Amino acid sequence: MLNFKKGVPPPREAVVGDPRPDVCDDDLRVLVHKGQLEAVSDYSRVAEMDVIVIAVPTPLTKNLSPDLQFIESVTRELARVLRPGQLISLESTTYPGTTEEIMLPILEASGLKVERDFFLAHSPERVDPGNARFNTKNTTKVVGGVGPHSQAVAVAFYAQTISQVVPVSSANAAEMVKVFENTFRAVNIGLVNEMALLCDRMGLNVWEVLDAAFTKPFGIMPFYPGPGVGGHCIPLDPHYLEWKAREFNFNTRFIALAGEINRKMPEFVREKTHRVLNQLGVAPAWAKLLILGVSYKRDLGDVRESPAIEVIKLLQEAGSVLVYHDPYVPAFSEHGVAMESTPLTDELLAECDLVVIASDHTTIDYSWVVAKANHVLDTRNATRGALANRDKITLL
Ligand SMILES: NC(=O)c1ccc[n+]([C@@H]2O[C@H](COP(=O)([O-])OP(=O)(O)OC[C@H]3O[C@@H](n4cnc5c(N)ncnc54)[C@H](O)[C@@H]3O)[C@@H](O)[C@H]2O)c1
Repeated sequence: MLNFKKGVPPPREAVVGDPRPDVCDDDLRVLVHKGQLEAVSDYSRVAEMDVIVIAVPTPLTKNLSPDLQFIESVTRELARVLRPGQLISLESTTYPGTTEEIMLPILEASGLKVERDFFLAHSPERVDPGNARFNTKNTTKVVGGVGPHSQAVAVAFYAQTISQVVPVSSANAAEMVKVFENTFRAVNIGLVNEMALLCDRMGLNVWEVLDAAFTKPFGIMPFYPGPGVGGHCIPLDPHYLEWKAREFNFNTRFIALAGEINRKMPEFVREKTHRVLNQLGVAPAWAKLLILGVSYKRDLGDVRESPAIEVIKLLQEAGSVLVYHDPYVPAFSEHGVAMESTPLTDELLAECDLVVIASDHTTIDYSWVVAKANHVLDTRNATRGALANRDKITLL
């Protein structure tokens, strides 16, 4: 829990949970030294706060249903110390209805009444980790209160620090906005991944097709294929909506289809890796493979739900020897796979039968990688700038 001192306008929200990884340590250090920011684990301190912002995880259970244990437990803790006048704002991504149906009854069990004694709102967290252009301040913030007073208080709170606040009519609507945004990405990524599968079948270069399509100045938006979707948002959040829709006897077919295609991509990378190895005359069971980049997104060290790890698992099952290099991930242990990054050298590139580029970190010199490698399977078109040795590159 981060505790901003009363009377000092918070430069960012007071967040229950960890700071995001892209919050700069130096910014935090200054606030801590000035006595404006404190990390505490004692819930009784919440009584000192006027505003409580919750950004706890919202994972899925094994059978893809919402796991609200973190929201429920933090709400129960808050109910114990809730006092009149406080605003509680949930920022975690979740299905429409969570704030009103799950949190509100727990909070009102304290004896305090929403809209009269305390205020409750949903305002989805919108963060693009690693994005240098958009930060908390200049990213428009959607806010929905469970009633008009909650709405007014929440808008007044966020407007202190965020350039543009967009009120919507309810907490339910605000929750739907966020899951729609992530569903929009999941569906469009599913679409370009399906194009990649079809172009592979038809002998077309999907990257050439997409690059040309995205020159259209209107009516289209760039999305790119890859080895699958990762992170803790795109692979998970649409399933929150899918689950809730079932309560209304509604089948969210786009979500299901996009999920199916996106989940298929690591298997496609395995198949294409084996195809390339066959062309090189190397049996998969005898091959040594270098996975270049294991994070789910370029220039980040986050491996949560990274498709690269699923690719590693599938290739290991086929008997290949696997090593990886990722400048942002010195080691990882995820989904039963534990590995350490190997330094990227001329020797390593030369001794591997194939380099599989799974994340397109911009710090890597891909022209050099292609020059030194025996062959490269590029699932991200990271080698687009490598003009020499193109015959050593196979694109997804
Ligand atoms: N990080 C992002 O880029 C991002 C972007 C948009 C939305 N979100 C959403 O925000 C939410 C949080 O994501 P995150 O990436 O910050 O997760 P995270 O796992 O990095 O951090 C969550 C923090 O909550 C803390 N926590 C859990 N239970 C708690 C409790 N009972 N009391 C106090 N703290 C508790 C955990 O210790 C952890 O530090 C999720 O719903 C996610 O979908 C995240």
